Amino acid sequence: MVGAGSFLLVPLFLSLVASTNSALSSGIATNIATDHLALLFFKSLIRLDPSQALVSWGNNSIPLCQWRGVTCGSRGSRRGRVTELELENLSLAGAISSSVANLTFLRRLHLPGNNLQGKIPRELAALSNLESIVLFQNMLEGEIPHELGSMHNLKVLNVSYNKLTGSIPTSLGNLANLEILYIAHNDLTGEIPTEIGNLVKLSKFSLSTNQLRGSVPISLGNLSSLTVLILHTNNLTGSIPPLQNLSFLTVLALGTNDLTGCIPSQLGNLTSLVILDLRANYLTGSIPESLGNLNILESLSLPFNNFTGSIPNSIGNLLFLKTLDLDNNELEGPLPPALFNLSYLELFTVQGNNYLNGSFPPDNGNRLPHLEKFLIDYNQFHGPIPTFLCNSSMLQMFEAAQNLLTGTIPSCLGTHLKRLSSLVLAKNQIQATQDADWGFLASLANCSDLQLLDLSYNRLEGNQIYGEIPGSLGACQSLQYLNASHNNLEGTIPLSLEQMKGLLVVDLSHNNLSGNIPEFFAKMRGLSIFNISFNNFKGQVPEDGIFSNASSTTIIANDGLCGGVPQLKLPPCTTHTTKRPYFRLIVAVSVGSTCLFVICLMLIFFHWNKKKKDNHQTSTISEHHVRVSYAELSSATDSFSSGNLIGTGSFGSVFKGKIMIEELQVTVAVKVLNLQQHGASQSFAAECETLRCVRHRNLVKILTVCSSVDLRGIDFKALVFEFLPNGNLERWLHQSVEEDGEYKVLDLVKRLDISIDVASALEYLHQHKPLPIIHCDIKPSNILLNDDMVAHVGDFGLARFYHEDSNDTSEKSSAWARMRGTIGYAAPEYGLGNEVSILGDVYSYGILLLEMFTGRRPTDSKFGDELSLHKYVQMALPERVINIADQQLLSNDGDGQGISNSVKVGDARIVCITSVLQIGIACSNDNPTDRLQIRDALKELQAIRDKFGVSVQG
Ligand SMILES: *[C@@H]1O[C@H](CO)[C@@H](O)[C@H](O)[C@H]1NC(C)=O
Ligand SMILES: *[C@@H]1O[C@H](CO)[C@@H](O)[C@H](O)[C@H]1NC(C)=O
Ligand SMILES: *[C@@H]1O[C@H](CO)[C@@H](O)[C@H](O)[C@H]1NC(C)=O
Ligand SMILES: *[C@@H]1O[C@H](CO)[C@@H](O)[C@H](O)[C@H]1NC(C)=O
Ligand SMILES: *[C@@H]1O[C@H](CO)[C@@H](O)[C@H](O)[C@H]1NC(C)=O
Repeated sequence: MVGAGSFLLVPLFLSLVASTNSALSSGIATNIATDHLALLFFKSLIRLDPSQALVSWGNNSIPLCQWRGVTCGSRGSRRGRVTELELENLSLAGAISSSVANLTFLRRLHLPGNNLQGKIPRELAALSNLESIVLFQNMLEGEIPHELGSMHNLKVLNVSYNKLTGSIPTSLGNLANLEILYIAHNDLTGEIPTEIGNLVKLSKFSLSTNQLRGSVPISLGNLSSLTVLILHTNNLTGSIPPLQNLSFLTVLALGTNDLTGCIPSQLGNLTSLVILDLRANYLTGSIPESLGNLNILESLSLPFNNFTGSIPNSIGNLLFLKTLDLDNNELEGPLPPALFNLSYLELFTVQGNNYLNGSFPPDNGNRLPHLEKFLIDYNQFHGPIPTFLCNSSMLQMFEAAQNLLTGTIPSCLGTHLKRLSSLVLAKNQIQATQDADWGFLASLANCSDLQLLDLSYNRLEGNQIYGEIPGSLGACQSLQYLNASHNNLEGTIPLSLEQMKGLLVVDLSHNNLSGNIPEFFAKMRGLSIFNISFNNFKGQVPEDGIFSNASSTTIIANDGLCGGVPQLKLPPCTTHTTKRPYFRLIVAVSVGSTCLFVICLMLIFFHWNKKKKDNHQTSTISEHHVRVSYAELSSATDSFSSGNLIGTGSFGSVFKGKIMIEELQVTVAVKVLNLQQHGASQSFAAECETLRCVRHRNLVKILTVCSSVDLRGIDFKALVFEFLPNGNLERWLHQSVEEDGEYKVLDLVKRLDISIDVASALEYLHQHKPLPIIHCDIKPSNILLNDDMVAHVGDFGLARFYHEDSNDTSEKSSAWARMRGTIGYAAPEYGLGNEVSILGDVYSYGILLLEMFTGRRPTDSKFGDELSLHKYVQMALPERVINIADQQLLSNDGDGQGISNSVKVGDARIVCITSVLQIGIACSNDNPTDRLQIRDALKELQAIRDKFGVSVQG
């Protein structure tokens, strides 16, 4: 009875749907078979599916509702029908099939982060149940179909980051239930339809980065549910509408348009605002006092406009303000004193075309504790340099060029500001203190971040700085730009400048400096501008480096100079003797003063001497240093002959050699740093610093170091390691290794042992106290093998200590600091500029595992852009491991010749390799937080060895 009843009902239902759903041109679509067909159509237009996400689609033994990304309804007429389609970040390429429109019960269409091309199907409009269309980050083209305006249930339309063109359909104003409308980062033209103002439920709205013209519709002021309004980077004109009813608005971004007129004082009624960005428009008038009512505002960005008048006092009420950017306006008058009580302020900038004046308030001990940037260039501020900045321990940039500042540079800036990277006080009236001419510089206690120092056009005076090396100055090794021109400096160039090996620009012109031009400038490879004109320098001009290029060197108006390259047209030097004593001085400096290096030595030899405590005491430091001289290493390696070259790395070459250590002749590996390679010095320091702190059976041992000058007087740095006779893992995996005429292969057990060795080393480094050590460059060529084939992790040239406090910007300054390992092995997040982390090492280790057991490099061209070693292995796991495993591991005679046909799926070796590859996959997850901890990887590998160790013995 029941059966007959439903039998009768079905056709009735069908015809009902047919009549109500007349928009469906394709006819009646009411059953599960239609959904099935529609999904198969969808799949048929997907050209590329690199992760095989759609492999379950169409497999008859898998019910449709269990296909990947498909969700079905469970009740009523929705039962068994597709209600959600969600395929996110899968790199699917192809078009979106209009057959999706046959999924009558679809509520969510969610396909972001793919490479979908073609148009948004207009047929979607027929899906009256559809609530959410999310297609951002694809390559969709064409216009937004105006038909979408009929989707009365639509709540979310997000098609940002595509290539959509045309104008925004006015019909979208009919989407009465729309809550989110994102069409940012496309190529839309035309105007913003006034009809958008009808969307009373709209909460988030972004059209940023298009080419929209016309004005911001006044009707947007009706969108009383709006929390986010982002229209920046378009070509909008006209004035800003009052918008005073948007009482929930937290973000208002109208920057980088062509807006004119004043800021409506009604914006002060938007008391939920957290971010107000009106930068780069043509706005005029004064900044309204009413903005002081925005009492939870964190960011106020009004730069590059034409605001006039003074900064309203009320801005001092914005107690949560972090960013105050008023650059490049026409503001005048003093800064409101209350600004200096904004205790969360991080960025304060008023530089550019402003006419602000007044002096700074006295130090009350507790102002602006979070300040990172204080930029006031090109104004008319006067009085002393504000000492309250010394309490802003986060300060990175203090730039105040072209003001009327007087007095001296407070030495507390040097002693307190450990993150300072830029100090610009050019074109003021700064004077030197009487006692120390480079007094401020001498006070720089920890200036390792300082990159830019511009003190030009002041009244700095000086006398007799000859020979006096402000010892701490050597710490400023990041300095790239030094300008102290147009002052009254006297005396000679401080020799300590030699340590600033990263210098790019040196301008000391228009002073009264005298003495010789130090030769070390010729060795600074990066130096591209050198100006010492209008001084009293004398003696020989060097000919190398920067001095070989007459157009980068300005030395005019120094009476006593001679020699140099002919283009400088100087008279020849009469005697040659001035050079020698000076040269010796440089050697002394370079050998004696690199404090990091000395500490490094002390600690190394502290370890070294432990065994022989009785007869060697601390006095041996310099003896040891002298003993491993350039000459000794040169003779040990047969003048670094190519016959002894055993490898080249990121920062230098490694030679095999024999030296006497403790009365024994020892074979060693000598790593000679190529100091011309940018970052090599830091790499040397890093390796030194790391290796002095570590001891582990699976880490290479450092025996000694050498820092000296070579025969040409050029800096020479080398590290001496124990020699590991079996070379590196890269050679064993990818090159034929022959010994005694026998072809050698690393068998499964050896590979397992090596992976455990490397994991043990990494675990040790990551557990290191007080700070974990990150290797940053785990790869086969950095894994070395001793005669027992025990693996040792080497090359710590990129290693660094991990500071929990990841705001630490000291890392970011140099090329070395930006290096994050080797392509193929470096974690994907490093490519996005993320800080190094132990999880980055885990990623590299995971790739290493995959490489060791598949025999394929991550950089194999086979993988191309779409695929990676990780995906390649993942797709094969677990059934097809037999196809991707390194075939050398499956041969029965262990000689790697020919593959045994007898390998079965159940073979212990396959099971073992599968387990290892699974660990490799878990370690090399794209998402750092999904990666295995190295400790767990190690435990699992040990368990695998225990389980399979004997049964897989080749
Ligand atoms: C279909 O799915 C089943 C169950 O997951 C699987 O065993 C089978 O290999 C699949 N068939 C194809 C052709 O992929
Ligand atoms: C929708 O389904 C009908 C009936 O199965 C079919 O004829 C039509 O081609 C489908 N429409 C699309 C766009 O695939
Ligand atoms: C929008 O402004 C940009 C920059 O001024 C300009 O290059 C572009 O051509 C403008 N687009 C339109 C449609 O006016
Ligand atoms: C805006 O704020 C002012 C006070 O600042 C108030 O008088 C006015 O009524 C407010 N307007 C609206 C529309 O809320
Ligand atoms: C606005 O400022 C810019 C640059 O500061 C200037 O070129 C322009 O003439 C000014 N416009 C008005 C209307 O003052």
